Amino acid sequence: MDRVIRVGLLGCGVVGTGTLQILRDNAASLTRRLGAPIEVRKVVAKDRDKPRHDVVRPEQLSFDPEDVLGDPEVDIVVELAGGLEPAGSWVRRALKADKSVVTANKFLLAEHGHELFGLAEDHGVDLYFEAAVCGGIPVIRVLREALASDSVLALRGIVNGTSNFILTRMQQDGLDYSVALAQAQEAGYAEADPSLDVNGGDASHKLTILATLAFGAKLVPSDVAVEGIEHLTALDMKMAARFGRVVKLLATGRSLPGWDGAPGPLDLRVHPALIPTTSPLASVSGALNAVHIEGERLGPCLLTGYGAGAMPTAMSVVSDLVDVGRNLLTHASGRVPQRAVSSAHLARRAVQAPTAHVGRYYLRFPILDRPGVLARIVGVLGAFDVPIEHMLQESRTPGSKEPVQVVVLTHAARDGNIRSTISEVQRLSGIAAPPVAIRLEEA
Ligand SMILES: NC(=O)c1ccc[n+]([C@@H]2O[C@H](COP(=O)([O-])OP(=O)(O)OC[C@H]3O[C@@H](n4cnc5c(N)ncnc54)[C@H](OP(=O)(O)O)[C@@H]3O)[C@@H](O)[C@H]2O)c1
Repeated sequence: MDRVIRVGLLGCGVVGTGTLQILRDNAASLTRRLGAPIEVRKVVAKDRDKPRHDVVRPEQLSFDPEDVLGDPEVDIVVELAGGLEPAGSWVRRALKADKSVVTANKFLLAEHGHELFGLAEDHGVDLYFEAAVCGGIPVIRVLREALASDSVLALRGIVNGTSNFILTRMQQDGLDYSVALAQAQEAGYAEADPSLDVNGGDASHKLTILATLAFGAKLVPSDVAVEGIEHLTALDMKMAARFGRVVKLLATGRSLPGWDGAPGPLDLRVHPALIPTTSPLASVSGALNAVHIEGERLGPCLLTGYGAGAMPTAMSVVSDLVDVGRNLLTHASGRVPQRAVSSAHLARRAVQAPTAHVGRYYLRFPILDRPGVLARIVGVLGAFDVPIEHMLQESRTPGSKEPVQVVVLTHAARDGNIRSTISEVQRLSGIAAPPVAIRLEEA
């Protein structure tokens, strides 16, 4: 190969444009670091009417992916279109043509990673994806390379900036969910269809990828128990503050101990949780992301920064390009197993059923202020072995017909028993609205 790394971009939106800007503005330093210039041969987009003159030269622009995928001169395909298709077919096609790929597509890698990484290994090429999880935070490299000598016991992260922005606005400004969501959309953090951000789907894709690397396990998104933030209210944020806590959407992966020192099942969950205001994750506000890793030998390690946005995400894409380029120049593609271990060494690990999880809970029961209701609730909690640590009942505003809130913080209880408690309490007379259960985590 001559000493030029030739790149084709599929997608020129937020991240694609940022990638082209960095490649243009940092060309000299990138060439020094890589030992060869990076040449962008083609940039493929869909909409012919969008202006892109500031970053794409007219002869670079194409609307036909074949101009990248069918070009034998292209060494690295950068997939920045997103979604499962046509991005998935493009990545397959590139890998089968012995081209390395850089992508930011967590959805594709969480759903089809095993097939795609297998293809990369079979063809002796790289499939790099630092930008796919937590945008600009180099968490993939840390898990893949820096922690090669350690065992990850647990990781816990705030990995979706949109939901974190919404929760921060609800917590700090007392906004209702729908108002905070509208603000996130106005600020450009949430998509027109924000479902995957707020229902925990995006975070579960990222956790699937992170946990695969952290635990060397073969995982799919359905291994993660998922709950979103759509049902949270400003009232729960206010209550959380009364207990010295904030509400965060946490992605948690833990390796549970098994028998005789053997690894037990994995505990993989995405859900809102009340965490102490003193926790390092509590101050991760707005669109910031963070991942807290607990290594057996390293101990705790916190990585935080911007998990999205053109520049932080494109920075990760270009760093991947440099790494993949170095591998091409030294004929070392595939030298570093992309998921910390090769596909053949990914272990099958059992995953703990969500109902088996044991932890503490915040429970809120909106009740009618009548005698006996509280006693019946306490009876149900006792019947399902849910130990009460703290209980408070709001005083009623004189003359108000509004429900009164009863809040319980529990000691450790089984998730399955909490679910049974909630459905049983819902059937009691004097319950004004469905009860709310949110996990407590010490994070
Ligand atoms: N945005 C972020 O902050 C961020 C952070 C981390 C990861 N990511 C990931 O990065 C990837 C790209 O995200 P983005 O925000 O840059 O998306 P985006 O702004 O919507 O850009 C997507 C690009 O792909 C092009 N495209 C889509 N379908 C196409 C098709 N069928 N043929 C040709 N071009 C097509 C679009 O063309 P047009 O320009 O013509 O519409 C656009 O240029 C996604 O996987 C996303 O999950 C994004």
